[in-house]
Amino acid sequence: MTTDWFAGAVAERYDADTTGRPVEPVLDFLEPLAGGGALELAVGTGRIAVPLAARGVRVAGIDLSADMVAQLRRKSGTIPVAIGDMTTTRVDGTFSLVYLVFNSILNVTTQDGQIATFANAAAHLVPGGRFVVEVGVPPENPRSVFALSDTHTGIDEFDADTQRLVSHHFRLRDGSWERLSMPFRAVWPAELDLMARLAGMELRERWAGWGREPFTATSGSHVSVWELV
Ligand SMILES: C[S@@+](CC[C@H](N)C(=O)[O-])C[C@H]1O[C@@H](n2cnc3c(N)ncnc32)[C@H](O)[C@@H]1O
Repeated sequence: MTTDWFAGAVAERYDADTTGRPVEPVLDFLEPLAGGGALELAVGTGRIAVPLAARGVRVAGIDLSADMVAQLRRKSGTIPVAIGDMTTTRVDGTFSLVYLVFNSILNVTTQDGQIATFANAAAHLVPGGRFVVEVGVPPENPRSVFALSDTHTGIDEFDADTQRLVSHHFRLRDGSWERLSMPFRAVWPAELDLMARLAGMELRERWAGWGREPFTATSGSHVSVWELV
């Protein structure tokens, strides 16, 4: 059974912990692709899905965590969400856009599972539909600091051999430090392109961010768009 790393307090605090992350540039990028409806894999609390639906887009979601979806339900009662693993879970209908943001492809910790996620995305798309993924490039070093403030320290531990990545979060809450260590499978862009090809999709765009900044060898993350051909 797949572990729900976002259960309980993680889900309750998720929106407060992610307020610094911009939403509008994500919506501006996704909305023009979503004329035939949008499906968010790993929809979570609806950080993106709820304001995208408010722009008039038909949005559906899939997420493993009932607690994360309970937070979404506090904001919207109308977005259909299937609770389940995005590697296999289906929702009704087809979409012109499937999207998977904020590194969530990495929550699937096996290569087979990530391949299945691409296949599941393709199975929900109309021909010509787009699959959009936002994800970090694997770190260059075995240890790297990705967050450092008075209340949050984030350290990635990475094994380039197995592609296993563990993100350690240390947060100061009510005067004491709490630790959360979450496992991921890091993946380079070229491997994602191959997963897309296996699912019948071709790369159309790759940017360093939602503002269509150029993607280069030194970019730390990317927004990639594949088309179902
Ligand atoms: C970082 S959150 C992102 C949530 C939302 N997409 C956002 O941008 O705020 C990762 C989400 O992935 C979900 N998740 C992790 N593994 C999953 C899986 N195998 N299938 C479906 N959802 C999964 C978690 O429950 C969580 O809601």
